[in-house]
Order: sequence, then structure tokens, then C-alpha cells
Amino acid sequence: MLDLTQKIISLTKQKGFIFPSSEIYGGIQGFYDYGPLGVQLKNNIKSAWWRAMVQERDDIFGLDAAIIMNPTAWVASGHVSNFTDPLVECKSCHKRFRADHLADKVKESKEFKERGVSEEDAKDWAKVLEGVKCFECKGELTAPRLFNLMFKTYAGPAEDSASQVYLRPETAQGIFTNYKNILDTQRVKIPFGIAQIGKAFRNEITPGNFIFRQREFEQMEMEYFCQPGDDEKVHEEWIKRRFDWYVQALGLKKDNLRIRTHEKSELAHYAKACVDVEYKFPFGWSEIEGIANRQAHDLTQHQKFSGVDLNYFDETTKEKYIPYVIEPSCGVERLMFAVICDAYQEIEGGRTTTTESTKEAEVVLRFSKAMAPIKIAVLPLLKNKPDLVNKAKEVYQMLKPVFMCKYDEAGTIGRRYRRQDEIGTPYCITIDFDTLEKGDVTVRDRDTMAQVRIPVSELLKYCQEGITTNKN
Ligand code: GAP
Repeated sequence: MLDLTQKIISLTKQKGFIFPSSEIYGGIQGFYDYGPLGVQLKNNIKSAWWRAMVQERDDIFGLDAAIIMNPTAWVASGHVSNFTDPLVECKSCHKRFRADHLADKVKESKEFKERGVSEEDAKDWAKVLEGVKCFECKGELTAPRLFNLMFKTYAGPAEDSASQVYLRPETAQGIFTNYKNILDTQRVKIPFGIAQIGKAFRNEITPGNFIFRQREFEQMEMEYFCQPGDDEKVHEEWIKRRFDWYVQALGLKKDNLRIRTHEKSELAHYAKACVDVEYKFPFGWSEIEGIANRQAHDLTQHQKFSGVDLNYFDETTKEKYIPYVIEPSCGVERLMFAVICDAYQEIEGGRTTTTESTKEAEVVLRFSKAMAPIKIAVLPLLKNKPDLVNKAKEVYQMLKPVFMCKYDEAGTIGRRYRRQDEIGTPYCITIDFDTLEKGDVTVRDRDTMAQVRIPVSELLKYCQEGITTNKN
């Protein structure tokens, strides 16, 4: 029996959502390509985020900063010295493990329970790993060493240390280095935010869980600058706003979401507080978004290293200060994975109506209508009747400028419905002989399978209303 992650890997590959990167060469670990449906789903997630973060707000500004920055920015931010994971390697088979992840695995074993390690020591992965052998070959493990996750490359023709640069491991630093540009050009007052969507790169020691932990991914980050003292209230507001967004805009089930507050020992040295929004993935509750109170850390560091004054001057109180920052930060692909898991439904024996029964298990992706990559499929009842085909193409051309649509004339109508169910298309529109006579079509709903007759002249309005309200 395949588990849910394996079923999703297989379905999303088969249907053109997600492919292993450069697969014809055997792939490359931690990298994925997004096919026609995958890129559309990612775009839907990104535009829902952009709408909530930028379009609907007067106080948040969009940005698209370069991936490669002046390398001093990464010294200032602390990434050059601190953006590390502990790595252990097997001396025999040379397999590499992230020490903290390996310790979590060890803690689940019978042998560990028999060791009687105290609760306090069990929190320290170095202690948990004492005497532990390689999980693959039982070989001896090296002592842990810190491994920097930033990818390095060179800018310009000389490959020397002076031209070494980094692929950004987060989009946030491009926001901090543009804070003054936004302040100077947009006539803004604190509190305000800067939002950005873009690629980030991390040389993860153990990428895995499909697209959950990749080496190249996209982040959606927003830095909200506020007055010190207001930060705790602003942090609480963003936690609530972001949680609600997952339910309302992405359509995720509330029961599959939770907020986890970081313990003091987990916090990065600059963070005053942090919570994760977690999703119940097939492999357990895991982070999809972090919402941190980064205090004045980043701007203070960039001021120190650049020599540029990054203070904010409050005209009313005549006060000068470095603002505090509240940062909601999430990964597009982790959200995409959560959206697919949440939508996935398998129906044993198929859905039984006289025309659609298959007796096999059927898969339906019950995306919210806003997330569905294809919104409408247009299907002529028969492909060998030119009048039906021409009318169907006419309806398809009418809908195409407004919605992502698919035209399909291959196979029985039941088969075509199922093909659309598997990719989560909310509406199937069938053009039949009555259409030619009466000018109406059958609209079939993915979730209820109810079929209604709608005049062609009202189709656009009908679909628009259904999609914006997410009603069946
Ligand atoms: N600027 C803060 C920051 O980057 P993070 O918790 O390291 O914080 C934020 O990353 C989000 O980026 C995570 O919640 C996750 O959704 C996504 N993310 C981080 N590493 C990832 C990876 N290796 N693959 C996919 N998504 C990742």
C-alpha cells in the first residue's frame, strides 16, 4: 500500500503538476520542476498572498530584489557565521545526516528508551547521538560539524574570494536593504510593511518529504516595521490574520492547521518571539509558515555594516529610532503541498451515478475553486458531430479570456469528467443537442456532481459567482 505522500507524488507527476528536476539525467536531489498544472497552482497561491498582503493594504509595498546581493549583507545578517546545520557523516558508507534530525530518529528507537537518558539530556542532540552508529550500515559516525547552508558562486570572470557571492537563502535581507528606498520614495509612515515573493536557495543536508524540504524553493515574506513597544500587539495581530488567511484564501481545513509557539530555547538569538503555522502533513505536523518578532536586529546590523543611517524619524514625537520588525514568512511549495494534501480524496468503488460509475477507486482533488489550476472544462458530448464541436469551441473561446479553461473531446463523457476530477476542475460544461436548439449547456459540479442547465449567455456570470464565493 502506498502512503498518501507516495500517492500524491505519483498523481502530481502523472497529471503534470510536479516533476523531478532534470529527470532524463536521473534527477537531482532537492530540486523539482513544476508542470502546466503545478505552475498554475503556484501562481494561484502567490496571487492570493499578494492580494492579501499588497493589493488590499495601503500600508504594505511590493518589492522584487535581486537574488544575488553584495556579500557583506550576509555577513551583517549573520548568515555567513550562523546559517548552519550540524552535520555528521558515516566513516564507512559516507552517508551524511543532519545531526538534529538523526537525534529525533534515535529518540524513537527501543535502544534509546533502554539507555535511560534523562529528559534534560534528551533535548541535547549531541548527547542523544553519543555511541550511535550509522542507520544505513552500522558504521562509526564522525563528530558533528557545522555546515553552512548557503550556496556559493562567483560574480564576474575571476573565481577568487573577492568575487565570491551567495544565492540568497531567504528573501528577507533584500527587503531590509531596501527599507530606506521605500521610506524615501513612498512617503510612508511607521507602521508599514514590504512584501516580496521570490526564489531562495539552501544547500539542505537532507532534502526530503517530497517538495517539503528542497534546495531551491520560493518564499513569500513580509517585513512589517513598527514602533518598539507596539511589537507584541502587532505580532499577535499578524498571527491571527495569517491563520485566517489559510482557511479563507487557501481553503485549508481548520482541523489540519495549528499554531505552535516556539520555546525560548528554540528562538534565534535576535528573535523575541516566534510562532509556526503548522499543517498536518501525512508525515506529521510540520511548519508551513514562521511568524517572528525580529526586533531591531536586521536594520541595526545593516546600519552598522553599511554605515548608512537607518533610523526612522517620527515627525510628530520628534523621536528617532530603529523600528522593530514582525515577519510572516512562508514557502510557496510547502503551501502547495498542503493545498494538495487537503484537497486529495480517494473514493473506493467510484462515485455511483448511472453515467459515471467506474467501480474503481476514484481520485478527486477538491481544491477550493480559487486554488483550482483549471477552473472550467468544456466538453462537446460527441466529437464526431461538427455542430457540437463548433458550438463547444465557441463557448471555450468565450470563457478562455476570463478563466483557465481546458477543451476536451477525447473519450466518453464519464471518462472526461473523471479526468477533470483528478486535477480538481470545479466545473465541466457539456455541449449537447439541446444546446444547439435551446442555447443552454449542462454545468456539472465537481464536488456534488449535480448538473444544472444554464443559458450560454449567463455562463460567465454563473461561473464567476461560483468561483468567487466558492459555493457549489
Ligand atoms: N526569513 C525567515 C525565514 O526564512 P524560515 O523558517 O527559515 O524563515 C520560512 O523559512 C519558510 O520558508 C518556512 O516556513 C517554509 O515554508 C519555507 N522553507 C524554508 N526552508 C525550506 C526548504 N528547504 N524547502 C521548502 N521550503 C522551505
